[in-house]
Order: sequence, then C-alpha cells, then structure tokens
Amino acid sequence: MIKDDFNDLITKKTARIGVIGLGYVGLPLIVEFASKGFEGIGFEVDQKKADDINAGKSYIVDVTSENVKKCVDAGKLKATTDFSELNKCDVIIICVPTPLRKTKDPDMSYILAAGEQIQKYMRRGQLIILESTTYPGTTDEVLQPMFEEKGFKLDKDFLLAFSPERVDPGNPQFQTHNIPKVVGGVTKDSGEVASLLYAQIVENVHSVSSARVAEACKLWENTFRAINIGMANEMAKVCNALGIDTWEVVRAAATKPFGFMAFYPGPGIGGHCIPLDPHYLSWKARQHGFDSQFISLAEQVNSGMPKYVVKLVSDALNNEKKSVNGSRVLILGVAYKKDIDDMRESPALSVIDLLRSKGAEVIYHDPFVPEVHFDHAYTIGAGDPIYNTELSDDLIKSADCVIICTEHSNIDYGRITQIASLIVDTRNALGEELRENSKAKIVRL
Ligand SMILES: NC(=O)c1ccc[n+]([C@@H]2O[C@H](COP(=O)([O-])OP(=O)(O)OC[C@H]3O[C@@H](n4cnc5c(N)ncnc54)[C@H](O)[C@@H]3O)[C@@H](O)[C@H]2O)c1
Repeated sequence: MIKDDFNDLITKKTARIGVIGLGYVGLPLIVEFASKGFEGIGFEVDQKKADDINAGKSYIVDVTSENVKKCVDAGKLKATTDFSELNKCDVIIICVPTPLRKTKDPDMSYILAAGEQIQKYMRRGQLIILESTTYPGTTDEVLQPMFEEKGFKLDKDFLLAFSPERVDPGNPQFQTHNIPKVVGGVTKDSGEVASLLYAQIVENVHSVSSARVAEACKLWENTFRAINIGMANEMAKVCNALGIDTWEVVRAAATKPFGFMAFYPGPGIGGHCIPLDPHYLSWKARQHGFDSQFISLAEQVNSGMPKYVVKLVSDALNNEKKSVNGSRVLILGVAYKKDIDDMRESPALSVIDLLRSKGAEVIYHDPFVPEVHFDHAYTIGAGDPIYNTELSDDLIKSADCVIICTEHSNIDYGRITQIASLIVDTRNALGEELRENSKAKIVRL
C-alpha cells in the first residue's frame, strides 16, 4: 500500500518535499521542512525569486536570509523554475495565489496551472497537498480528476489532501512551527499520511475527516475575521455619530473574560486573505442556491471605510476653512498592516486614490514600501505611481493633514503630534499621553 511506503520516508525524513509557489506561504513552509532535515525543492515561475533563494537570500519578512543560506549550504534547499523536477519529489505542496476575478468570482488559474504541471510530471507514489485557500470541493472536484486523468488511482498510486495555511506575516509569536495545522485527506490514507508529514514540522496537527472540512475551516476562520472587523467598523461609525470614544468602548468590552473577542476598526481591510477568502465561500454557496448575507454586508461595510476616512479628512479640513481640493495630505503607513511590506488590497490605495480624485496632493511615508502602484481597481484618480518620502520636519509641517493609515512601530508619533497641524488617526496609533500633549488637532476613527 502506498500509505506504508510513506511511513519510512516521512519518519526517517528521506521524503523529498516539493513546494510550488515560494511566496508568503510557500517560502516559510519549505524552509521549515529543510530546517528539520528534509530535502526541499521550491518551484517558482519567478526566476528572480528562485535565484534569490539559491543565493541564500530571503525576500519574505518572516524568513531570515541566514536561515535560507544555512539550508541551501546544507544541500537541503534549492529553488527552480524547471518543473520536470516535480518528478523527483515524494510530496508536492501547492502554495500558489488564489485571487478573485474582476467579477469577484474565484480565479482558479494558478491552482490549475500548478495542477497541470504536476499532472505532466507526476509519477506513482506521490502525496499531493493543496495549501492555497480555496472553496470547499476544490481538492476533490478540481485536482483529483486531473491526476486520475493520467490513469493514476487515489490511494493506490497517489494520495491527495488539503491543509490550510494560517501564517500571519509579521507576527513573531506565531510562525509555521507553532501554529496548529488542520489537515484533511480526500481519503483516509491521504489524511493520515499528510498528518504524519506535518507532525514532523509543526507542534500540533488537527486531523479532520475530509479535505472539504479543512477547506471550509479556513474559509470560516477568515470570514469570521472579515465579519467581525466589519462590525467593529460599523461600531466606530455609530460611536462617532454618538460622540463616544470608539477605542475606549472596545477596550472596556475586551475586559470581559468570556463571550467577547476584540476586533478593531480601521481604514478598511487588506492583504491577500481577509478581503478575498469570504468571496470563495459565498461563490460556492451561491452554486448551491444559498446567498450569504453576512458576507455581503461585511464586504459592503469594510469596502466603504476608505470613503469614510476621506469624509473624516474632508470634514476636518473644512473645520480649518480648507478644502480637500488643493490640500497637501501626508499618509503615514500604506502597507495593509503593521510592520510588513505587503500592499495587496491595502485600503491606503483607495484612500490615496479617492483623495487624489478630489484634487488633493498626496504624499506618503512608509519605511517598508518604497513605491506604490495603482492598477485598474484604483483609478478614479490619475493612477500615477507615488514614491516614499523622507519624514522630515519640513514635510510634516507642510501637510494640511496627516492620515495615519497603518501604525508601523518605527514611526516617532510624538514628533508628529508636535509638528503637524491636523492628524486623522484611523488606527488609534496615538496613545492618551500623546493626544493630551499634542500641538496638532487630532481626529480619530
Ligand atoms: N499571505 C498570507 O498571509 C496567507 C495566509 C494564509 C493563506 N494564504 C493563502 O496561501 C496562498 C498563497 O498566498 P501567498 O500570500 O503565499 O501568495 P504569494 O503571491 O506571496 O506567493 C505565491 C507565489 O507563487 C508563485 N507562483 C504563481 N503561479 C505559480 C505557478 N504556476 N507555479 C509556481 N509558482 C507560482 C508566485 O510567483 C509567488 O511567488 C493563497 O491561496 C493565499 O490565500 C496566504
């Protein structure tokens, strides 16, 4: 039985692990396998990424170059754009992007491309695991038939499982090895072997009865976040309308030791996961005649936040007898979250675009992001790229309004409160003391 062949390969760490897609998810994963003694081969379409890895250089914030180099030098890690090497791998893990189409339907093209490469070079005796976030049914409806088309039989010739990735880029407390891993096989054998594999690199594996349960689990987790952030955003608007301090309310509510979990408002949601994943679930639900209203409502509230921030800016400028048109606005932090460089779906893109479409001159400072480009989704304004600006006293003084969009740690907010004239703080980055001693007017979400 194919399952028995894997026991030795895995426990003796002689299984060769192939990871397709070396991004925020795939790179930490393959480095974890390589650090634990497995031989890892990373498959990329981006030649530069493959070259960087082979040169011992990391381009992902949570993975150090030192670690990559150590694994490469030990002969445990290499990256390639030659997919024929998939044939050498005992395990193949797919970590490619799962974006949305313009219509907000799942874009399966990356998973299909990875599946086609596997199909082309597949041999008997491989375990294939999908880690990309996707709708329930992808592993057994989309991938399984591709491999069976080749004449291979599940359990006899290959094993197939889904295991969602939960990595939280920029979170030093939780990394691949200590984030519990949910694993579901398309068959019982597939699930057992995949669980045994992950148990070699993560402390806690939670096996579930099917790939579909594992797929649904990931979407539930991220939909939960999107909806709760949506509720926090709505509460912020309610509190603002009532003249109550939103942040003080949520801080107080968070003291309840049960039945409440704190989520915080902000200028919108960003990243490759939270704004996208719920659409995978609602799309699949629609195919079964079910309309997920919570998901639609949360997306409506969250995607409306950049407009709300621009309204706060416009009202605050108006109080100074200024208009958005012709004002100079300095944005602090444009990455979608604190202390990372990821710009995907960042709400700052919409805030900048909306302000520019109203005639503001927008500049930004973000120590992690050297330049910002605008694609078709953000082109109400001119869509010209903008570049990181040095945070000099003159620059801060020259701004009619400073917006804190993302609260990176390495910004001296105290200095800004002493020099700026007006600050719109969408993240509660300015603590009580800074607010009390501020020379700038402060508006908070
Ligand atoms: N970023 C996160 O925080 C996070 C967390 C959990 C889950 N996920 C999920 O993991 C998956 C990957 O996300 P990511 O953030 O790592 O994306 P990413 O864009 O950082 O990385 C994907 C990589 O895949 C490569 N690639 C694309 N097509 C390929 C192909 N056909 N063959 C080989 N390589 C290919 C790209 O060049 C890129 O380097 C997505 O489904 C995402 O939803 C992401």
